[in-house]
Amino acid sequence: MDDLLAYRSQFPILEETTYLISNSLGAMPRAVYEAARDYADAWAHRGVRAWEEHWWNLAPAVGDEIGAILNAPPGSVSTHLNVTLCQAVVASCFDFSGPRNRVVYSDLNFPSVMYFWNAQRGRGVRPHMVKTDGVQVPTEALLDAIDEHTLLVPISHVVFRSSFINDAQAIIEKAHRVGAYVLLDVFQSVGTVPVDVQALNVDFACGGVLKWLCGGPGVAYLYVRPDLAEKLEPTLTG
Ligand SMILES: Cc1ncc(COP(=O)(O)O)c(C=O)c1O
Repeated sequence: MDDLLAYRSQFPILEETTYLISNSLGAMPRAVYEAARDYADAWAHRGVRAWEEHWWNLAPAVGDEIGAILNAPPGSVSTHLNVTLCQAVVASCFDFSGPRNRVVYSDLNFPSVMYFWNAQRGRGVRPHMVKTDGVQVPTEALLDAIDEHTLLVPISHVVFRSSFINDAQAIIEKAHRVGAYVLLDVFQSVGTVPVDVQALNVDFACGGVLKWLCGGPGVAYLYVRPDLAEKLEPTLTG
């Protein structure tokens, strides 16, 4: 018997079907029924007092719980509504009006991430999209595109479409050599392959919990390297 089989009963849908699409939405854990009821009970019976008694502290507490999976130090992971907003928070820390305004990624980035960066052209952002064959990212071409005019490299760790694993280490090393930052989208890697933000020395990492982390819609997370967080002043706050 495989020890992992014991987990099957914790996911109702696995009793009804073979579920192979966690890359879109993970199977709901049975415990969600109880957690959702507790949440509704607090709202129904504690009203506004629920903020002080529980809810205010949930954002940093959940951030730390997710951070433990990324090997992020406590206090370095904040929670947000979705990955697009995480990109926007990072973008709001930088001035793109100078010569260092290039934002480099590949055409296998998640579409909503690319829509965001494309829409920042009016703020001076110069997106540079490296072409791929739709499956693999040509690492050398990506590394060559990261130059001294590059401010940020927002790139997927594991590609949503093909499962291709980008060489995060090489991308981060090249970016740092030329003075650029990397925002690693770990939505499809956390929960499927080991991710250690401190070993990678990545500047930012973001993702969501609804695919591989047994969470639901509406919770995304943003890791910011602690020494960098000291220096940055986001203008998108909340
Ligand atoms: C790699 C990756 N990034 C981002 C997203 C989603 O972005 P958002 O939270 O902005 O909808 C997904 C999947 O939906 C994804 O697979």
